[in-house]
Amino acid sequence: MPRPRRYQLRKEAVAIVERGHPWIFREQLSSAAHVFAGGDLLRLVDGTNRVVGHGIYEAEGAIAIRIVRRGPDAPDAAWLRDRLAASLARRRPLAARTDAIRLVHGESDDLPAIVVDRFADTLVISSYSAGTDARARYLARLLPSLGAAPTGADGDASVVGPATHVVLRPAHRRRGVVEAPRVMRGEPPAIVRFREDDLDYAVDLAGGQKTGTYLDLRGLRRELAEMALGGARVLNLFAYSGMLGLAAERAGAAAIVQVDASERALAFAAAHHVRDPARHRFVVADAFAWIEALAPGEHFDLIIVDPPSMTSKKAQVPNALAAYRRLYRAAAAHVAPGGAVVAACCTSRIERPVFHRTVRESLGPTFTRERELPPEADHPVAFPQADYLKIALWRRAT
Ligand SMILES: C[S@@+](CC[C@H](N)C(=O)[O-])C[C@H]1O[C@@H](n2cnc3c(N)ncnc32)[C@H](O)[C@@H]1O
Repeated sequence: MPRPRRYQLRKEAVAIVERGHPWIFREQLSSAAHVFAGGDLLRLVDGTNRVVGHGIYEAEGAIAIRIVRRGPDAPDAAWLRDRLAASLARRRPLAARTDAIRLVHGESDDLPAIVVDRFADTLVISSYSAGTDARARYLARLLPSLGAAPTGADGDASVVGPATHVVLRPAHRRRGVVEAPRVMRGEPPAIVRFREDDLDYAVDLAGGQKTGTYLDLRGLRRELAEMALGGARVLNLFAYSGMLGLAAERAGAAAIVQVDASERALAFAAAHHVRDPARHRFVVADAFAWIEALAPGEHFDLIIVDPPSMTSKKAQVPNALAAYRRLYRAAAAHVAPGGAVVAACCTSRIERPVFHRTVRESLGPTFTRERELPPEADHPVAFPQADYLKIALWRRAT
């Protein structure tokens, strides 16, 4: 590990570290921070030279320092192994249901800027900061040994799995060279199959979004698979690889229309997430234009609306909310009486109450919020900004 550089925090930033929040924002830094380079490990001290924690300096973006470890000790290998063991232990109950698990969820698992996803025998390890690339590499070497030993002894085989393939995705350096994913162990196949509850899914590792698929939507897939959808017409907007469509098919839906702008994603959906082709229709289109052009008499018993985040910056929030209004107004006109809308939002920049209010106002008074889905156990929410995913079911009166 590199030798940390000393940095004296302002009082307000000390309070942030002591409250347990994992980020110090750029406006909370003193001018002395300008000497640091992105990825530098900092020993953070208060006005009395007491070490309050260690953090990584980020050269760009709103987050200026990611707190890695609080207290006087540096984040060494033993600390990293302990953090990883705690993350894996938290996921043990999930391993009984699925072999696709987010093993490490960054800051909310006390492992900032590192995400580890398991898809059956393949691990995808991503680092989101130049300062955590070395830690991610270390985990890439450590995890296969934990997967090789039984759970509860020196390892966590049921959670980690065989780790036959390990891929490392180092941080994307905005100004420097973009590093390609590195195979650390056994070249992975382009498509990996996994099981979740009693359904078989596949992930497009070679060209997929996120780290391959949306593990955070597991609860929604289960909810759909268990809904009374016998004979129902379902519209899946922003369908990506059609996993929600397969869950709806399992629940008995008779017609499932899936819309996405990505031809590749829908081709993957048709190839891997369809059991009865007669029940599915795939439409490559802009979802906004498509639903607004839908014939007035077309009704669905369930419409799923899961748009992309649309907010890489705070300034984009008003436009994203306007886009939501457009979508939910259009969707409301095509829900059959007694039918429902699943409203999903995957950005923490739109806060939960704002999201619900926007959906309520756009759907209109005939809809009531029936319930919200909690986050999945492998996507813990340890601080306000980690509460990014909102999923609610809205019911239209009969
Ligand atoms: C959050 S993901 C949806 C994940 C999906 N619900 C699932 O179950 O995996 C958003 C999707 O929206 C698609 N997309 C983005 N903009 C779009 C647009 N204007 N019209 C249709 N699809 C769009 C992307 O290709 C991506 O697949």
